[in-house]
Amino acid sequence: MNPTLRIAELRERIHYHNHRYYILDSPEISDLSYDLLLRELEFLEKQYPHLQTADSPTARPGSAPQENFGKVSHSPPMLSLANAFNTEELGEFNQRVCTLLGESSIAYICEPKLDGLAVSVSYVHGQLIRGSSRGNGEMGEDITRNILTLQNLPKKLGGEAGACELLELRGEVFIQKADFQKLNASRSQLGEPLFANPRNAAAGSLRQLDARISAERPLSVFLYEVAKGKTFASHLQKLEWMENHGLPINPLRFYARRLEEVETFYNQLLQQRATLPYEMDGLVIKVDCTTLRERLGEASKNPRWAVAYKFPAEEVETLVEDIQVSVGRTGVLTPFALLRPVMVGGACISRATLHNEEELARKDIRMGDWVFVRRAGDVIPEVIAPISSRRTGNERPFSFPKQCPSCQAAVNPTTRRCTGPSCPAQLSAKLFHFGSKTAMDIEGLGEQRCEQLISSGLVKRLVDIYGLNFSQLMALPRMGKKSCQNLLSAIELSKTRPLARFIFALGIHQVGEITAKTLAAVFQNMEALMQATSEQLTTIHDIGPEVAREILEHFSAVDNRQLVDDLLAAGIAFPTESFQPTESFSPLRGKRIVLTGSLRTMSREQAKMEIEKRGGKTMASVSAKIDWVVAGEEAGLKLQKAKALGLQLLDEQQLKRLLESSPYEELMSK
Ligand code: IVH
Repeated sequence: MNPTLRIAELRERIHYHNHRYYILDSPEISDLSYDLLLRELEFLEKQYPHLQTADSPTARPGSAPQENFGKVSHSPPMLSLANAFNTEELGEFNQRVCTLLGESSIAYICEPKLDGLAVSVSYVHGQLIRGSSRGNGEMGEDITRNILTLQNLPKKLGGEAGACELLELRGEVFIQKADFQKLNASRSQLGEPLFANPRNAAAGSLRQLDARISAERPLSVFLYEVAKGKTFASHLQKLEWMENHGLPINPLRFYARRLEEVETFYNQLLQQRATLPYEMDGLVIKVDCTTLRERLGEASKNPRWAVAYKFPAEEVETLVEDIQVSVGRTGVLTPFALLRPVMVGGACISRATLHNEEELARKDIRMGDWVFVRRAGDVIPEVIAPISSRRTGNERPFSFPKQCPSCQAAVNPTTRRCTGPSCPAQLSAKLFHFGSKTAMDIEGLGEQRCEQLISSGLVKRLVDIYGLNFSQLMALPRMGKKSCQNLLSAIELSKTRPLARFIFALGIHQVGEITAKTLAAVFQNMEALMQATSEQLTTIHDIGPEVAREILEHFSAVDNRQLVDDLLAAGIAFPTESFQPTESFSPLRGKRIVLTGSLRTMSREQAKMEIEKRGGKTMASVSAKIDWVVAGEEAGLKLQKAKALGLQLLDEQQLKRLLESSPYEELMSK
C-alpha cells in the first residue's frame, strides 16, 4: 500500500481509538492491537521522515483534554513509554542505552506497570492542592476534586516534603481487581453498562464531573515520580524519600544491577501476576542514576531512559466464528464460542466457554461478533463482551438446539439437558471426570482420548477402561506404542486410589471432593454408602438434605449400583486412608460429638476432620445419644438443649487438649 495513504489511515484509526480509550473510557480494540497500530505508524514515519507531522499521534501521547474539565498544563510534560514485547526488544533497549552512554552495563529500577490512569498531583507547602489527568501529555484535565477522594493519598505532608514550596508528583490511579468485580456486579444489578476492564473502571470513575461518584469508587494510587520540587541522585532514593514521607509507593520494586536481573524479576512477577490484587500489564524499566538519565534525555514523547517491558496480553479481540454447545456429564448443554485462534495470556486460544444461556443473553454475543477475550493466569479463557461498534448487521444470534448434538435425543427445554439414555458425549465427559487429576488421576486420559475410546466402541461403560488391552489401543489412530503402554499402566495404577477419590470420580451430582472425603471417612466402604439411609446421611455434618437426596437418587438407579459393583470387580481396591479411624486409644474414639458456635483457632470443618481422624463422630443435632457438645463462641439453641439434657459440655480449649493428647500422626505410626 502507498505509504502516504497507509500513514493517513493509521493516524485516523489511532486518533479514533485514542478518543474511545481516553475520553469515552470504552475502547474497542485491545491494548495490544493499539500498540501494534502505533508501532506500524512509528515505523513508517521513520522510513519516510518527510511524511512526519506535528499532529501525528506518535508525537503526542493520549488524547486532548475533555472540554468539561478545567485544563492544567504539565511542565515537565507527562511522557509516555516505548514498549518492549520480548527479550530481544528489551535487549535492544539496553543496547541503545549502553551505546549512548558508552557503558557496558547499566543498573535499572524495575517497577510494576499498573494498568490505570496516569495522574499528576501537586502539594504546596505540604498541602495537596491540585490533581490532573495526563490528557495529551502537555495539557490535562483538572480533576482535583476527584483526586481529593483517593483514600491512600495523604492530603498533607510533613517533614522535608511539607517544607517544599511546590512538590509535583506523578503516579497511576487504579482499582483493585476485587473492587472492579464488585463495581461491575452492582452496575449489572442496576442495569448500568459494565466496564470492560479495571483500567476503564478506574478512568471512568476518576474522570467524573461529579466528584461524589469518584468518592464512592474504591480507587487507589501509586506514585513513581517527583516531577518538581526536589532532585535526587537516583530513582531508588527518590522512591524511598517519597515512601518515608508517607506517600503511596508500590512496595514491589526491584533494583537490578544489570539486564539479566531484570529478566529474573520479570519472570518472578509474571508468576505472581494472577495472585496480585491489581492488574499489571508489565514492568517499567528505568535507568536508576539521575545523571545518566539526564544524559539520555527524551525522544519525542518517550524518554530514552525507560521502557515498558510488557507481559503477554491478557485481553485481546477476536472473531466469534461459531457458537456451539458441549454436553456435560450430567447432560447439561453448555454453549461455547469457537474463536479465530489468537494469542492471549501467553497461550493460543480457539474456544471459550459462554457458561450458560442467561450469561450468553446478558452479554448478547452473536456468531460473527468481534469480542474481547480474556485469559488471566490459569483461569479459563472468557469472552468478556461483544464490540458492538464493530457490528455489521450480519451477526447471527444463537438459539439453543432442540436436539443433543451428540446423540440427537431431545433436549429438555427448561433444564437444557440432553435426555438421551446412552449419549456418547455424556459418557465421554463422565470418563474424563473419572480419570481427572483430583479423581482417579489417570494420566493420558484427556478429553480427546476419551472421545476416541467411546467413538471407536471400545468403551461403552466406564468400567470398560479396565478391560482395555494393548492391541485394542494400538489399533486407534494417533496412538503410539509408548503412549499405549503409559495409558495402560496409568489405568492399572488408578485401581489403588483412596475411597474418597473413587466416590468423587463417580460424578454424583453435588458431591464434590470435600463431600466425597466426608462420605469416605464416615462410611468407609462402598457397600455401606450405597445402603445409607436418608437419616444417616443428613445426620452427617455438612451434608444437607439436597446433597443427601442426590446421593440416594444416584444409588437408587440399578445401573449406577451395578457400575460400582463392576468397577470393584475389575480390581479397584482402596488402600487404608490416612484419615480413617485407627485401632487407637484416642479418648475421642467412638464418641458422638456435636460442634456448635464458632471456634476461634480452627474452622468447624477442621475440627470435624480432626475428630473423625481419631475415630470420633460429629453429629448435626443434639440428642440424648450425644456424648459431648463442644460449645464455641455465640453458641445458641444447641447449647441450651444440651444443658437441658444434662450433656457433657466442652469448650474449645478442652477440645484442643483432647486432640493434642492423641496426635494422629503418632497413632498412625504405631
Ligand atoms: S513512568 C516518563 N512508571 O504507563 C515515564 N509509568 O506508557 C513515564 N505507568 O503514562 C511513566 N505504572 O500511566 C511509569 N511505574 C510506572 C508506571 C507507569 C504505570 C503508566 C503511566 C504512563 C504509562 C506509560
